[in-house]
Amino acid sequence: MPAKLPSDIAGSLLDWYDRHARDLPWRSPPGAPRAEPYRVWLSEIMLQQTTVATVRPRFEEFVARWPDVESLARASDADLMAAWAGLGYYARARNLIACARAVTADGGRFPGTEEGLRRLPGVGAYTAAAIAAIAFGERAVVVDANVARVVARLFAIPEPLPAAMPAIRAATESVTPDARAGDFAQAMMDLGSAICTPRNPSCLLCPLATACRAFASGDPERFPDKKAKAAKPQRYGTIFWAEREGRVLLVRRPPKGLLGGMRALPTGPWVAAPPGLDEQPLAADWTMLDETVVHVFTHFRLELALAVGRAEAHSNAGEWWPAADIESAGLPTVFAKAAAAIRRAE
Ligand code: ADE
Repeated sequence: MPAKLPSDIAGSLLDWYDRHARDLPWRSPPGAPRAEPYRVWLSEIMLQQTTVATVRPRFEEFVARWPDVESLARASDADLMAAWAGLGYYARARNLIACARAVTADGGRFPGTEEGLRRLPGVGAYTAAAIAAIAFGERAVVVDANVARVVARLFAIPEPLPAAMPAIRAATESVTPDARAGDFAQAMMDLGSAICTPRNPSCLLCPLATACRAFASGDPERFPDKKAKAAKPQRYGTIFWAEREGRVLLVRRPPKGLLGGMRALPTGPWVAAPPGLDEQPLAADWTMLDETVVHVFTHFRLELALAVGRAEAHSNAGEWWPAADIESAGLPTVFAKAAAAIRRAE
C-alpha cells in the first residue's frame, strides 16, 4: 500500500489543484460553482482524441456561435460539419448534433447521472463519468489516458496496457473522494499533463510523490508497461483537383465511415498499391504532381498522390467551389493539406 491513506491522496492532490489548476475555458476555477453541463459535455467530446491546445480556440468559437444546447440543436448538419473541420474523428461531430437534438427534444437539460448520460449519442463510459463528476459533482470514476498513467504509477500496477485497465479503474475508485469529484478528476488530468508526464516525469514537484510506488521503485517511467505497437498498414490513393473557370470540384463523403459526411476533394479508392487515375470523378487531362500528401489515421497510414486537371465540361458530380477560397470550404485536414500543396504548385 502507498504510505498515504486514500483520503490523504485526494486531499494532497486537491490542495495542489487549488494552487495549480489550468485555466481552461470550459472549467470553473477550483471550489467555484460547477461549470454548465453544456460546456462540459462539448469540451469532453472535443477533447476525446484531440489535445487541449487544439481544442481551446475551437471550443471558444463553438460556444460563441452556439452558446447553448438548443442553439446547437438548431444548427444545420452542414454548418456543424464545416465548423468541426480539422478536429478529426468526424463521427464525433455527427454524434454531437444528434446528442444536442436528443437533449433539446427532452426539455433541454442534460441527465445528471452517469447512467442517464450513457444513453446519449456519442457519450461512452469515460465521457459520462467525466460529465457526471465535473458538471454534476457525482462521485464518478474518471479514467482517461493521463489519469491511467498517474494511477498506474501511484500503485505500480505491473500489467501492460490495456490489460491493466481493470486494476487501474479499481485503484482510481479507491482514491476518488466523495466531495469535489469533478475537481479531483481534473486535478488528476492536470497532474498527468504537467508533472506525471510519459517521459521524464517531474517527481520532485509531485504532490503525490511520497505515496507513489513507482517513484519509490526509482524508475517511474517503467509504468504503465506498454506492449510494442504493431506497424500501421499502408494505403495509397489519389486526390483529384479538377478545376474549371476558377472553381474546383468538391464532393460530400458518404455519411458513414472515415471523414463521413464531410465536404472533400474527390479521391479514387484507398488501396494497398498506388491506384493512379482509377475512379477519376470526370474525364480530364490529368497531371500527377511530384509531391504527395501523407495522413495518419488511427488504423492505417494513407499516402495520396495529387492529380490536377482542367475539366472541359460542367459536371453535376458535386459542387464547384471557388479555388481561391478553398480555405473556407471546411475541408478535413488531409484535404486542406492537399489543397495547399496543389495551390503552391500552381
Ligand atoms: N481532457 C479531457 N477532459 C479534460 C478536462 N476537463 N480538462 C483537461 N483535459 C481534459
